[in-house]
Amino acid sequence: MSTTASAPALYGGTSGRRVSVRDLLQGKERQERWPMLTAYDALTARVFDEAGIPVLLVGDSAAMVVYGYDSTLPVTVDDLLPLTAAVSRATKRALVVADLPFGSYQGSPEQALEAAARFMKEGHAQAVKLEGGRRVAPHVETLVAAGIPVMGHIGLTPQSVNTLGGYRVQGRGEEAGAALLADAKELERAGAFSVVLECVPTDLAERVTEQLTIPTVGIGAGPRTDAQVLVWQDMAGLSPQVAKFVKAYADLNETLSSAARAFADEVVQGSFPDSEHSYN
Ligand code: KIV
Repeated sequence: MSTTASAPALYGGTSGRRVSVRDLLQGKERQERWPMLTAYDALTARVFDEAGIPVLLVGDSAAMVVYGYDSTLPVTVDDLLPLTAAVSRATKRALVVADLPFGSYQGSPEQALEAAARFMKEGHAQAVKLEGGRRVAPHVETLVAAGIPVMGHIGLTPQSVNTLGGYRVQGRGEEAGAALLADAKELERAGAFSVVLECVPTDLAERVTEQLTIPTVGIGAGPRTDAQVLVWQDMAGLSPQVAKFVKAYADLNETLSSAARAFADEVVQGSFPDSEHSYN
């Protein structure tokens, strides 16, 4: 959590305002590493904001961790908008990035603009994220021209799980690695302010990070990206099944389970509520 004379640190620094995409670009120049987490509700978003996390993503992973689907595909703009608005309302400092869900942007740059504008106007997000490389460069250009900051997402793009043939590492081998690097460069050229690299080999993620002037955000991409992101329920040990790249920093599953059991036991025994938790 160090602070240079000219700019507050991205992680935990104080500036009295929201982190901006410009701050992130300046962080890249300073070679500063930063954390990003997903958030989907007001209480956890406030905790992460107060912990100094500079970027919060209202991910389409909400499909799985909030709505209980088995992939990210079913979730809609209308499902994600209230979550985005809750995260925006509950935070003061973090840059809130809204994920454009499957089917809300792939059709055309105009469709992308319509969906992204709703996340900015109704969800009060400060940026959006979309999946894809060169294929979505025109979409990125249109959003950026309209004043909407865009985070790219390449490598394992979960919305394309059916064409990728499963959740597997991407960019292995010379040809696939070169294609991924070309995707990253094209997103940068189109105006993206950063790019998520999901499930790619460490060396390739390092190469992309070195060759871009915008920050890379790794998830399953090794330690040498500019930033790292995790789904918060994975990070906190609440998700029942996690990928190899996830590290759990708490055991919320156990903590919540024992709290629920302790509550239930006291209700059954009649010791809750006691006088301290009752009105006279
Ligand atoms: O939806 C999501 O949570 C994401 C991150 C894992 C990058 O896209």
